[in-house]
Amino acid sequence: MKPIAICAIALAALPVLGAPAANYDESKVPDAPLPDALAVPDGSFKASGAIEWESRVRPKIAEFFESEVYGRRPPRPKRQIFEIVESSDNALGGKALRRQIKITVADARGEKSFIMLLYLPKSPDPAPVFVGLNFMGNHATAGDPEIIMPEWVRNTSLGGIKISGNRPTEKYRGLQSRRWPYEKIISRGFGAATIYYCDIYPDLEKADGAPQSVYSIFKEPMNGAIAAWSWGLSRALDALETVPQADAKRVVAVGHSRLGKTALHAAAFDRRFAGAVSNDSGCMGAALSRRQFGETVEAITRQFPFWFSPNLRKWAGREAEMPADQHQMLALVAPRPLYVASASEDLWADPRGEFLSLAEASKVYALFGAKNLPSEENFAIEKPFIGDVGYHMRKGKHDMVEYDWENFCDFFSKALPQTR
Ligand code: GCU
Repeated sequence: MKPIAICAIALAALPVLGAPAANYDESKVPDAPLPDALAVPDGSFKASGAIEWESRVRPKIAEFFESEVYGRRPPRPKRQIFEIVESSDNALGGKALRRQIKITVADARGEKSFIMLLYLPKSPDPAPVFVGLNFMGNHATAGDPEIIMPEWVRNTSLGGIKISGNRPTEKYRGLQSRRWPYEKIISRGFGAATIYYCDIYPDLEKADGAPQSVYSIFKEPMNGAIAAWSWGLSRALDALETVPQADAKRVVAVGHSRLGKTALHAAAFDRRFAGAVSNDSGCMGAALSRRQFGETVEAITRQFPFWFSPNLRKWAGREAEMPADQHQMLALVAPRPLYVASASEDLWADPRGEFLSLAEASKVYALFGAKNLPSEENFAIEKPFIGDVGYHMRKGKHDMVEYDWENFCDFFSKALPQTR
């Protein structure tokens, strides 16, 4: 592994304007005790069994994260329409089925549509499916010329190609295919589905995309992009429930970085998800906030206030006083299979904080009878832990690549029920 100090200099070169410099020194991590994973946020009750945790602790933890961190999740829309707008039984060189499903959501103030791209293995039984949002448009996830481009994309620059005027370009086709190794996923017996995240809530980064987001269809005022993106994953799951070749009881929410925070949120708040993968999700994802290592509440709420409830800002610099930490967010997925992945050079996301958070959340899994849970020696580069929960730290940078998917597939092949 590269010496931590060298990585730290590289990362510290990208400070968040106005925020204190990020800490990358383990010896400066505050010694703040973590809230007990088995207790309610004010500590007034501690569960001694799974039923007590489910009925008395879980609702209070969920309430904390909704009110103080992510905002309230939008409700299921009053009306939804699912239309297969394109399909092939001979995709990816004949190995897969492809479906592109237009999802129209409608509520009191109007409607919105977005397209879900879905690949499924050609198998006699309905397949388990990984579903995640993508950063650059469905067409950026694979070179497949049939993938429909979104109508609006965020202005960005990738591989030297600059997007301006919010117009999608053919040049982005397949540009992020390393993050979506569909053929590999299909060969492991899983399907994969994705939606462009800005179709749900435009991530303008420097301004709030809420007016163009799915929130605009609802009468009640709502905020927080992560909660909206997570709601989008639930609409993908609704759509998968209409596809006979997909097993909607075995759908795993997956995501990288801000979309890893999103995948975790989706599985936490929609218990139809059979499991979750949180890849390099960092601050307000898997990483423990109390460590204040890499990105902090101060930095994230300064740079990306629109991702969260406005209440989160008041905890900036006061992480040790927060009534709950991210291990309790991870625990909301219990007892369903959960996989946390880190990358060794991704110090901004605090790999150790992600691992320790999973280890703490494991106490809730243990309440449900899980025995094969991670311990300190499993925090090691490219030695995946595949137990009742899963963890690996890939060598390298902030990304989601084939190595990560290989391990997700190994874990969920074991952790999900074999058939429905
Ligand atoms: C920024 C942000 C992170 C986020 C990441 C991403 O680095 O600070 O919190 O996870 O973007 O989504 O790529």
